[in-house]
Amino acid sequence: MSHEPILTARHVTKQFPAANGRLLTACDDVNLTVCQGRTLGIVGESGCGKSTFVKMLVGLLAPTEGEILFHGDDITKLKGEALRQNRRKIQMVFQDAWAAFNPKMRVVDIVTEPLLNFGLIRRSERAAKAQELLEMVHLPKEYIDRYPHSMSGGQRQRVGIARALALEPEIIVCDEATCALDVSVQDRIVELLVELQQKKGISFVFICHDVALVQSLSHQMAVMYLGNVVEVLPGHLVGTEALHPYTQALIGAIFSTRMDFTKKIESIESEAPSPLDVPAGCPFQNRCGHCMERCRREKPKLVEIEQHHEVACHLFSR
Ligand SMILES: Nc1ncnc2c1ncn2[C@@H]1O[C@H](COP(=O)(O)OP(=O)(O)O)[C@@H](O)[C@H]1O
Ligand code: SF4
Ligand SMILES: [Mg+2]
Repeated sequence: MSHEPILTARHVTKQFPAANGRLLTACDDVNLTVCQGRTLGIVGESGCGKSTFVKMLVGLLAPTEGEILFHGDDITKLKGEALRQNRRKIQMVFQDAWAAFNPKMRVVDIVTEPLLNFGLIRRSERAAKAQELLEMVHLPKEYIDRYPHSMSGGQRQRVGIARALALEPEIIVCDEATCALDVSVQDRIVELLVELQQKKGISFVFICHDVALVQSLSHQMAVMYLGNVVEVLPGHLVGTEALHPYTQALIGAIFSTRMDFTKKIESIESEAPSPLDVPAGCPFQNRCGHCMERCRREKPKLVEIEQHHEVACHLFSR
């Protein structure tokens, strides 16, 4: 299987209007690539811009600047029917499957709704198609007649994945999709995602608070800090090769317990600045033990240190 780049974010910036005419930069010049049949993991503390970024990938938000190329075409420029057709290929699984589904809909309707919306099946074909989709996510086919409230959190999340699979997407984005589940249930969902990737060559963008989990699953893992990607490296090298002081601080915590980003990071002394007051120079400067004069003056660029490994830190710029 070739692992060609299929979705590329180039210089993607998103700003939101804030109080007093100010602008909040949620994503700042983000450059990331999703490859065919691969998983791109994204980690970083709450508020660092992960959800904003993936909402732009799936077309729920428009970037302020930059382009998002899907098979070479800039999808931020698409409108109307072209946009609708394109969105079939990039699906999202949300964290809260409970809230994402209409409680009055049965599983058969939930998982086949996208197919009906696109006119890809007839009503009479719904039950058979729903059974096929449930089989892919290892749920009993009798569940097509259930309502979301009569299922467990893990089962509902499988229904969410079945629904995302209905349109045979090339990419599935999981934004904290497993984080509300117990660890053992979460592990089984992750196993399912890996199996689907191997069988169908689907690419995943996977966001989760649990760095150890993201790292174990990601062919490439991007670390975000205050809207900036500060390091990108293969997941299996995170424990040994991570260079950025922020990534280092994170992994100092992860290998003892499963790191939870909703909690304060013990190994970093001070708080992150407000996204409305990102300092000039390196965004991590006030929490970095290696901060130099240059760091306050000049923002480090993300540069390739070796193949598949990029870092934005003056300690490593040539
Ligand atoms: N619709 C919005 N309007 C204004 N600010 C927003 C909006 N969505 C997100 N933000 C802000 O953008 C920053 C990034 O948020 P988000 O992408 O949700 O981060 P994460 O998913 O990493 O927790 C936060 O400071 C958040 O408050
Ligand atoms: S650029 Fe400077 S402040 Fe920023 S992470 Fe590197 S050493 Fe620390
Ligand atoms: Mg989020």
